[in-house]
Amino acid sequence: MDYQSRYAAYQAAIEEYLAALFVEDKPYGKLYESIRYSILAGGKRIRPVLTLEFARLGGIDWHLALPYACALELVHNYSLIHDDLPCMDDDDLRRGKPTNHKVYGETMAVLAGDALQPEAFRLIAQAPGMSAQSRIDAVEVLAKACGADGMVGGQVLDCVYEINDAEGLTTLNRLKTGVMISGAAELGCVASGMDAAMRAQAVEYADQLGLAFQIRDDMLDVVGDEQVFGKPIGSDKEEGKITFVDIKGLDGCAKEVDECTARAKAAVAGWEDHEFLWELAEQMTGRKQ
Ligand code: IPE
Ligand code: IPE
Ligand code: MG
Ligand code: MG
Ligand code: MG
Repeated sequence: MDYQSRYAAYQAAIEEYLAALFVEDKPYGKLYESIRYSILAGGKRIRPVLTLEFARLGGIDWHLALPYACALELVHNYSLIHDDLPCMDDDDLRRGKPTNHKVYGETMAVLAGDALQPEAFRLIAQAPGMSAQSRIDAVEVLAKACGADGMVGGQVLDCVYEINDAEGLTTLNRLKTGVMISGAAELGCVASGMDAAMRAQAVEYADQLGLAFQIRDDMLDVVGDEQVFGKPIGSDKEEGKITFVDIKGLDGCAKEVDECTARAKAAVAGWEDHEFLWELAEQMTGRKQ
């Protein structure tokens, strides 16, 4: 199966799974509405796609890994809802649409994000066809990826500290973005019971992919097309943020993205069936969305 068809198949399954969540009538129906507004807004789904691909590479029917994949995607969506709030990046546009708090208000945006976190762990706890040990391992992987020493730690460095050197920014990028991407890969390894050696290579691949992904995001914040990127251009500068673009320039960033991509590809070069992972890594260089 070629790259595009496989990505589309994963994406369709993810959309279908997410669309079935938060559908019942409730007295607090606005919460469901605000959650669904964000989780069904047309994200690229790169993280859950990684989970499903690593599950497939580990030898299971990838559909079984959908609860793990979508659990991480729920957490990712919570992180974006909160990231856009006035107290954080104060952004009005996400995926080409008004941000959650612009539509539902700040109170609901905070609460929608709050709800998405436990709901994610519920999906893992209830995952059909997964052993108890696998579900415990998945909980640990996701908790580490989004917790104090993961994404939230990164958001604190980004929003509260003033990091302005390359080494510090790499740590920041690794935490705020990288660990959720490598966590996604690891969830696929957990789902399929992949051995430790391959799991380490999967994590190395995703770690480099994550760095490339965030540097490219910072570049697009400067040179992107708002229509395609779906987010405001110049938001980082407006918020007074120092990113890799300020330190290395656009050419330096492009070089860095290429190097990370090459390292990502090298990590899985020994795998028989690495075509999809390679193509996904190569997308980082030119991605516009
Ligand atoms: C946005 O992630 C946040 C970053 C880490 C840069 P994505 O670019 O994956 O967002 P969606 O889910 O596709 O909108
Ligand atoms: C977002 O980084 C990282 C998380 C939400 C954890 P950014 O603030 O650069 O992401 P965008 O550009 O708003 O998507
Ligand atoms: Mg941010
Ligand atoms: Mg932001
Ligand atoms: Mg950004």
